[in-house]
Amino acid sequence: MGFFSKDIKTLDDLFVHTLRDIYYAEKQIEKALPKMIDKATNPQLKAGLEKHLGQTKGHIARVENVFELHGVKAKTVNCPAIDGILEEADEVSGDIDDKDVLDAALIASAQAVEHYEITRYGTLIAWAKQLGRTDCANVLANNIKEEQATDRKLTEIAEAKVNLQAAE
Ligand SMILES: [Fe+2]
Ligand SMILES: [Fe+2]
Repeated sequence: MGFFSKDIKTLDDLFVHTLRDIYYAEKQIEKALPKMIDKATNPQLKAGLEKHLGQTKGHIARVENVFELHGVKAKTVNCPAIDGILEEADEVSGDIDDKDVLDAALIASAQAVEHYEITRYGTLIAWAKQLGRTDCANVLANNIKEEQATDRKLTEIAEAKVNLQAAE
């Protein structure tokens, strides 16, 4: 902790706070993805999630780079939103026996995670630009691109095969 909402006074404070929020979220996602990979059956889904685990490690490194560029300490703040998304993912997938339905649920959960990341990075990029930090915005843009590509890939896997098999 150490960065309370009452400490947020300027857009710069808000930017740093939100950077610490996504830093926390990325680290939680890094921990959650191996469990999702274990549960996935569809080979494309498994491979896609594995690839994204590698990318997520890169996201963490890029966020650390932005902290450095911005001259602030790399710290996390709790993010109840991502905790809730990941908790729900774990709960729902724990209740499903059918492998195909489980894959469909994993895709839905993974897309909820990607959409959370996309909204955070979208905001951070806009604020970085407003604050004159195009250097930070450019680094964050690399992360949002990979989140968006992952989201699209998950839709593709769901629509090409997993939803069909889950409905059988
Ligand atoms: Fe990420
Ligand atoms: Fe992601």
